[in-house]
Amino acid sequence: MSNINVAIVYYSSTGTNYQLAQWAKEGAQELGAAAKVLKVPELAPEAAIEQNPAWKAHMEETKDVPEVTLDDLENADAIIFSVPTRFGNVPGQMKQFLDTTGGLWFNGKLANKAVSAMSSASNAHGGQEATILALYNTMYHWGAIVVAPGYTDPVAFESGGNPYGTSVTVSQDGKMQEDVEKAVKHQARRTVEVAQWIQHGTK
Ligand SMILES: Cc1cc2nc3c(=O)[nH]c(=O)nc-3n(C[C@H](O)[C@H](O)[C@H](O)COP(=O)(O)O)c2cc1C
Repeated sequence: MSNINVAIVYYSSTGTNYQLAQWAKEGAQELGAAAKVLKVPELAPEAAIEQNPAWKAHMEETKDVPEVTLDDLENADAIIFSVPTRFGNVPGQMKQFLDTTGGLWFNGKLANKAVSAMSSASNAHGGQEATILALYNTMYHWGAIVVAPGYTDPVAFESGGNPYGTSVTVSQDGKMQEDVEKAVKHQARRTVEVAQWIQHGTK
């Protein structure tokens, strides 16, 4: 059994990244880690959500998912992020949350966390890699240890082959175009494994 705590922190409007987060939780649990899925607060105006039935339905479906707190980050050995692209960048909802981590960062509380990220977009070349890399910028400032999946398992080749983090293309009706479940689970297990190495090396 591992004694690794994993926080899986996501933003999702229409459910894709929530599903990726759930798969990541299952992957982490396969190695015996304690994993929880946590959402960042929604910032979009009510009127915008009301206009999009899929967004509204997803908000309702996930109303009981706990919102992430700074304590969740501090207590985690590993953090896995999942976000949809927004113009090739990190959604404002996630960015706003990351921008509240200044105190933890200042006190060195985010250094040496094992971190990894996933993403989705409507288009295969619509910014999936750019979004993950943009998210990692913050991780480097934290002094976290970025755990990229690379091509460490053959599942990478079946799932779109994004070495920075698993990502998926989503059609307008919300269907994932690549089968990424195994790649997500591999990424989560690898992140837990690296968190264990860090723990063994520092305690
Ligand atoms: C404001 C906005 C910007 C977006 N920008 C892009 C983009 O640059 N490239 C792209 O392929 N998809 C883009 N999308 C589509 C989303 O990335 C897609 O709906 C999302 O990955 C679905 O994830 P979710 O179901 O977790 O919300 C954008 C969507 C919105 C609302």
